[in-house]
Amino acid sequence: MPVCDLDKRAPVGKKVMGLDVVVWWDNNENAWKVFDDMCPHRLAPLSEGRIDEWGRLQCVYHGWYFGGSGDGKLIPQAPLDGPPVHSFQKACVGVYPSTVQNEIVWFWPNTDPQYKDILTKKKPPYIPELDDPSFTFQMFHMGEISTKATSKGALDLYMYSSEPGYWSHVVNCSSCKVAYKSFSALKVSLQLFSIASVAIVAATKHGTISVHARNALAVAAILCFMGSKWLSHFIYKKLPFS
Ligand code: FES
Repeated sequence: MPVCDLDKRAPVGKKVMGLDVVVWWDNNENAWKVFDDMCPHRLAPLSEGRIDEWGRLQCVYHGWYFGGSGDGKLIPQAPLDGPPVHSFQKACVGVYPSTVQNEIVWFWPNTDPQYKDILTKKKPPYIPELDDPSFTFQMFHMGEISTKATSKGALDLYMYSSEPGYWSHVVNCSSCKVAYKSFSALKVSLQLFSIASVAIVAATKHGTISVHARNALAVAAILCFMGSKWLSHFIYKKLPFS
């Protein structure tokens, strides 16, 4: 997730590689944190919560507080003389090991504590072009990464899921949303034109329009129908998040 997409004042929810995560700025550790976007209490999205003045992430539903390690900090409804909440596993959130490189927040897609220190051994790939102001780049998919520098000094950055055959996507990608809407509109237009052409051919009697015109309409109807089918398949394959 590019840091420029995030907000240090509020948690941000993202869907990455099929995972619902919340990214938030931990003022106490001066670091971005990536948590499961699910409160351990009643599974509410933590991305709808807030960061309080002490730098804790607070769930908006019943007000539970969490620290940067995913530990429960405070349960407002719990008795003050009860045991400390951080000792309850069920009061803690799943934390993804995360780091920042090239102004991008990277995270290891597993909250199992055995991977807690994984980023000390495995680093995200360093991409020098991303720090080079003479390059521009576009981001498409998340996961493993490959890059292609173009002759114009632009860098296309592709990130693939390591899971075979599975293309993940950042749902918040605005250019893909625009593409999805445009392709869908084109598909509907083709279907409408196809239906209208068939209706005209069926409704017009012999002699009303020429045979050539009838044939042209019939061919156009078939081509539009095939085009809309192909577009449906294209949208399903290339824009799976939709
Ligand atoms: S659902 Fe989060 S505190 Fe209850």
